[in-house]
Amino acid sequence: MTYPTIEQIVSLAKRRGFIFPNSEIYGGFSNTWDYGPLGVELKNNIKQLWWKMFVHERDDMYGLDAALIMNPKVWEASGHVNNFTDPLVECQKCHERFRQDMLEDPSKCPSCGGALMPPRQFNMMFKTFVGPAEETANIAYFRPETAQGIFVDFKQILDAYSPKLPFGVAQIGKAFRNEITPGNFIFRTREFEQMEIEYFIRPDADWNEVFEGWLERMKEWMRAVGIDAARTSYLEVPDGERAHYSRRTIDIEFEFPFGKKELYGLAYRGDFDLSSHQEASGQKLEYFDQEAGERFVPHVIEPSLGVDRTVLAVLASCYREQEMEKETRMYLALPFALAPFKAAVFPLLANKSELVEKARTIFHNLKKPEHFIGPIAFDDGGNIGKRYRKQDEIGTPFCITVDFQTLEDDTVTVRDRDTATQKRVAAGELTGFLRQQ
Ligand code: GAP
Repeated sequence: MTYPTIEQIVSLAKRRGFIFPNSEIYGGFSNTWDYGPLGVELKNNIKQLWWKMFVHERDDMYGLDAALIMNPKVWEASGHVNNFTDPLVECQKCHERFRQDMLEDPSKCPSCGGALMPPRQFNMMFKTFVGPAEETANIAYFRPETAQGIFVDFKQILDAYSPKLPFGVAQIGKAFRNEITPGNFIFRTREFEQMEIEYFIRPDADWNEVFEGWLERMKEWMRAVGIDAARTSYLEVPDGERAHYSRRTIDIEFEFPFGKKELYGLAYRGDFDLSSHQEASGQKLEYFDQEAGERFVPHVIEPSLGVDRTVLAVLASCYREQEMEKETRMYLALPFALAPFKAAVFPLLANKSELVEKARTIFHNLKKPEHFIGPIAFDDGGNIGKRYRKQDEIGTPFCITVDFQTLEDDTVTVRDRDTATQKRVAAGELTGFLRQQ
């Protein structure tokens, strides 16, 4: 198995149009990245697969898309205005700032060796002003997690759908944190995306069993997106180190190229959030169990997944190098569902118009609604070996080549990305072949 360096991943991401530095023509904007044409396909495929597995394929889940900027009272009640802090230390000499809990040696500045000032708690909420007047009354916050939108809309979901416990609400969307030390490419940024579920249960339910069940679902998810299980580990977060709302947390860690770090989190939030919002808003956020004739505030289990960290873990897990006779072949072993292009169509020779024409017909046919499996690439530039390498690098599972035999018997060669082996398939059966993947 190849373990790529972060430089190899960044270089591939830029070279092939997955991820670019943001505002590059202005010298970039620190630790801010844009997803290019292939990156947006990969990211959308991750989000769509998550939605399919955790919303559409289940019968106990509801989707939500709440606003990014909510009433600031939400963040007071949730505890974020007071507690969403990291310990910040500043160097007395060079005045660089660091997150104290991330320093290997918290006694001196990692940049210049100078002494550090005593730590102070730095709040990571991204502040803004709503409306034209920049005054305290108009302060609002970009959400630091998607979760609160779910708690705040809990009552609307109960009123509209009368769901039976246990049930969950899922949301995908942007979150913002004024991180002290962002970095490691897209690992820690100030603007990122989350895929979160709040799974509501009775207060007397066996929450540990539900928690363990969600841990299994998260393992299934990691298998589905090709995250290397040998590089994942599970950290039971001890008392005193958990977020202010959590009674149990497991951090799912991944061996990233820059070290072992948190990939996802699974937390038991009890009734902290619903009870806090109930108290602060004065609105009842109780569930009425008709059969038992009881009212109570449900408890909640929260699987929380970062989209960008998923992209990074997938790129690191799927990066492969194969020693060939004269060169090293690099390919991205992405699962079919995640691949930006599902196949690429080539004429064997770019200067033979009958091959190019036939290849274009097959390409357009695969893009017709009745045959559409996903995006298909077309390439008639350069030699065929180079075209294969290019598709290997971006993880295209199949390359379909039109050669002279195609003109005689209407079959094409289909080359498998991972094995580099080829077989002949009838052009009319290509849709069926791709559908089986
Ligand atoms: N609602 C719970 C919550 O937000 P968290 O552990 O703070 O918990 C959940 O964040 C996930 O969001 C993390 O496991 C990670 O995947 C992602 N995440 C958090 N901060 C991030 C950042 N600054 N950049 C990229 N992803 C981040």
